[in-house]
Amino acid sequence: MATRRDTLGILGAALGAIGTPLAWGRADPQDEPLKAIAARKGMRFGNAMGMQGDEKRRQRFYDPAYRALMARECGLLVAENEMKWQAVQPEAGPHRFAAVDDMFGWARREGMLLRGHTLLWQSPRWLPKWVNALDFSKQPAGAAESLLRQHIQAVCGHFGRDIISYDVINEAVNPQDGKLIGNVFAARMGALEQIDLAFHLAREAAPGAQLVYNDYMAPRAGDALHRAGVLELLASLKARGTPVDALGLQSHIASSDAMAGAAGRQAERAWRAFLDEVSGMGYALLITEFDVNDRELPAGFAERDAGAAALARDYLDLTLSYPKCRDLLLWGMADHVSWLQEWKGVERADGLPQRPTPFDSNLRAKPMRGAIAAAMRAMPGRAAL
Ligand code: XIL
Repeated sequence: MATRRDTLGILGAALGAIGTPLAWGRADPQDEPLKAIAARKGMRFGNAMGMQGDEKRRQRFYDPAYRALMARECGLLVAENEMKWQAVQPEAGPHRFAAVDDMFGWARREGMLLRGHTLLWQSPRWLPKWVNALDFSKQPAGAAESLLRQHIQAVCGHFGRDIISYDVINEAVNPQDGKLIGNVFAARMGALEQIDLAFHLAREAAPGAQLVYNDYMAPRAGDALHRAGVLELLASLKARGTPVDALGLQSHIASSDAMAGAAGRQAERAWRAFLDEVSGMGYALLITEFDVNDRELPAGFAERDAGAAALARDYLDLTLSYPKCRDLLLWGMADHVSWLQEWKGVERADGLPQRPTPFDSNLRAKPMRGAIAAAMRAMPGRAAL
């Protein structure tokens, strides 16, 4: 677990680096790649890449410099949006896999492993419009199950054994009250039943893959109901014998997840209790979407980057102290590609772009890269995968 001394060390080192940009300069070729540090400890390190949306995103995906950085640091790729149901089947009819195939083709050539995100994002906001428009109460019995089956079989059938781990269900718990979120499938068969069915279908269609429930509960005090709801869901699924292998910790952290001070110690205790309970139920853990929202941190780069690195270090030290946590994936590796630049509601009051990732927009390493490397170097080793 991180000590306050670690945090101060990172802050001090980062502040000391002002005027010596080389200390945090472009990823030093001598630096051990993050994937290699992870592998020495029996873990995998990866990142999400996106290409769909607009021309800017396409260009970023083909940017040779970003690709080279990704290939150097990462052994695992997940598609940021390209495998979501909305993306692969925006209208009823055949699934379209061209974008994600392009992305995965490149990743395979680079020797990366692949994660699948996500077979079903629970909220109607993230389901295709045509799916939300279906009223299964007016359709023959079994129609809801059969649509879910077709979708899961189409995706898992397409990728075969290439995908080692799937987020089968994404974000099913309402953070406001800890209850399950509804959608057209849940309305027909009950939310828990629908989630259970999705995991069974995934096990059938992708028998070799790790099956994950993925959500964004975090250590912060305001997430108590969210964490409780996720624990309740995991306990219910375990009781039913649902084939869930792991909990995906999205890990979109922010200043509210700091583990310093009185509130921080409370957050630290709450997070440890949560992870203990999840592991106690027999689930594995993985960090699926790590980034640091810096909207509460000062504007100046040195202070801001040091603050974000300290948050990252404390969170990773605690979470990676669980040997059941076998993967660490970022949700974007350089600041200009981060979804937080466009996401409504996380804008900084000063209007400056966020700096949520380990590399800046010129692909220069920031203190957060050092924090991630240090956390992985310090964590206990896992048995070989
Ligand atoms: C985000 C993408 O990064 C954005 O580009 C998109 O507009 C919305 O989704 N939790 C998840 C991810 O599971 O799929 C989300 O990705 C970020 C939060």
